[in-house]
Amino acid sequence: MFYCAGNWKMNLTPIQTKSFAENLLKSLSVNQQDSFVIFPPALLATTLSESLKGSKISWGGQNCYFENKGAFTGENSPQLLTEMGAKYCLVGHSERRHIFGETDELLSKKVAALQSLGVTPVLCVGEKVEERKAEKTKEVIVSQLELGLKLAGKSGPLWIAYEPVWAIGTGLVATVDQVAEAHAILRQALKSWSSSIGSTTPILYGGSVKSDNAAALAKILDVNGFLIGGASLDPAEFFKIYQVSTN
Ligand code: PGA
Repeated sequence: MFYCAGNWKMNLTPIQTKSFAENLLKSLSVNQQDSFVIFPPALLATTLSESLKGSKISWGGQNCYFENKGAFTGENSPQLLTEMGAKYCLVGHSERRHIFGETDELLSKKVAALQSLGVTPVLCVGEKVEERKAEKTKEVIVSQLELGLKLAGKSGPLWIAYEPVWAIGTGLVATVDQVAEAHAILRQALKSWSSSIGSTTPILYGGSVKSDNAAALAKILDVNGFLIGGASLDPAEFFKIYQVSTN
């Protein structure tokens, strides 16, 4: 299975969400649907899940807190996500780490809280441009992986996303060699971390994926799917990425 996950970030409205779902569903055959996951803003979850009803397209949260209830203004709980039908939740997207200051320690608690309810955490890791220039990519992504999984269950559920910060939303896509190297490093680290799921945990690539660069990236060993930001807002382009990746 090759996954296409769309991270909408802080975009789209209820009306746009309905039209997105209609258009995407029109393009997909039933057996293509379960390759797709959409991460809408939390307030669009109801509209999206109603619009996707009866299909096998999944959706997930872009973020959550690690407690299931309480005085945490502005946050959403893993319990809420699971009751609403979310199958996944992003954890530690680079915008959460670098704009909102989320730490590896906090992310690890989120991973464990989601797993305990059967929601698959998608732990995002990736180096900043200055870290790549200083040849610290391996050190940074392995450390983010190990610390983020510190409290995680070694039998999952779990997905990983490799997203070099300098490639997110910039149009600068990582080269095939750079992606291959990073995914091989992460696969190795996952295998050392868990003998039960280390070789089967999906690792997605994210960072300026578009239909014109997806085919080459999709062929790389250990690229099991994409996490797509900007290009996932247009259902035609989102579907085209899937098509070129699975051809
Ligand atoms: P992008 O975003 O595809 O717009 O670069 C990817 C992401 O942030 O997940």
